[in-house]
Amino acid sequence: MKKILVTGGAGFIGSHVVRLFVNKYADCHVVNLDALTYAGNLENLKDVEGKSNYSFVKGDITDEAFIDQLFEKESFDAVIHLAAESHVDRSIMDPLSFVKTNVLGTAVLLNAARKYWKETSGKLFYHVSTDEVYGSLGESGFFTETTPYDPHSPYSASKASSDHLVKAYYDTYGLPVVISNCSNNYGSHQFPEKLLPLIINNIVHSKPLPVYGKGDNVRDWLWVEDHARAIDVIFHKGKLGETYNIGGFNEWKNLDIVHLLCRIMDKKLNRPEGESAKLITFVKDRAGHDKRYAIDATKLNKELDWKPSLQFEEGLDKTIDWYLANGEWIDRVTSGAYKEYYSNQYVSR
Ligand code: NAD
Ligand code: TYD
Repeated sequence: MKKILVTGGAGFIGSHVVRLFVNKYADCHVVNLDALTYAGNLENLKDVEGKSNYSFVKGDITDEAFIDQLFEKESFDAVIHLAAESHVDRSIMDPLSFVKTNVLGTAVLLNAARKYWKETSGKLFYHVSTDEVYGSLGESGFFTETTPYDPHSPYSASKASSDHLVKAYYDTYGLPVVISNCSNNYGSHQFPEKLLPLIINNIVHSKPLPVYGKGDNVRDWLWVEDHARAIDVIFHKGKLGETYNIGGFNEWKNLDIVHLLCRIMDKKLNRPEGESAKLITFVKDRAGHDKRYAIDATKLNKELDWKPSLQFEEGLDKTIDWYLANGEWIDRVTSGAYKEYYSNQYVSR
């Protein structure tokens, strides 16, 4: 049985990756390693808890002794590394915790793989990264795998550093690695600090909908389950040492997406048309706010035959319905009591 370490599996994207691998590959054992920060919640994985090919370990990827011990004990065949501090606004307030987890944490994992994988044949270190490492686009053009790195926020700079470390371990030590850089994800289980779940939740509670600047920044949105499918494809078919961009050619101005959410939710909540849009509030722009992201995912499509499975409208509809049906999840993940409860859990195998 193959043993895969997934880091950050209790977070938004990680939980979808864990679910996909546990359900799809009975011959794989998935070990989910997560520090359960504010963004990690075991409730995201209630449906896989108890399955014989899944286990959870609470721990911090920056803790070198702990990570070394884990690698020694478990003999992992592969790593899918998602654990990170992931929110740009938090990185502006507290850059060092991003450097610690995203840069040092990645280095600790790479180094453990280097030390404990004596034989690298059949092994894989898969690093999950973001399109934000490429910086910001003007009105036209796309990020490709050869776009030079030009990060602007502490978050994207820390992810860029981690990508470079992964490439350095490939070039220097021959560690078998692959990297993917994905556009903005949306879907169920996303912590309600990021644009979509924050706006959905605020509409539900008739709270102001904060739009940074003029709302004319552009993001390229991909349904999280399509990201997980892409990770599955790259994990199994990607070429070692390569980078793959993941995206669905789905660009939206922030203000347009907020208006779209308002229109859909007015209908779903039986509110008069235009009611939710009255909540839109323009606020001070984010410092260093990247103007536009847009991914060219041609390489992934042509070489590995991946494409998104859902149209945006359908994905958005599913996402909104999930948040409407899971108001208690939002209450719990944003409440201290919930965090305290789960951070005391150590679910062993
Ligand atoms: P998230 O914030 O929802 O989840 C991060 C997870 O990592 C949490 O479960 C958290 O507890 C865990 N974690 C944080 N610090 C840790 C540490 N020191 N040790 C162990 N675990 C730790 O993030 P996400 O949105 O699911 O993103 C996952 C990965 O995908 C990140 O690497 C991110 O850079 C990348 N990514 C995200 C997006 C996006 O739109 N969200 C897009 C492209 C790439
Ligand atoms: P976010 O979801 O934080 O993702 P990222 O910054 O990693 O792309 O933000 C998406 C876009 O929405 C970004 O341009 C910033 C903007 N934004 C707002 O206008 N209001 C908000 O409350 C948030 C969280 C983001």
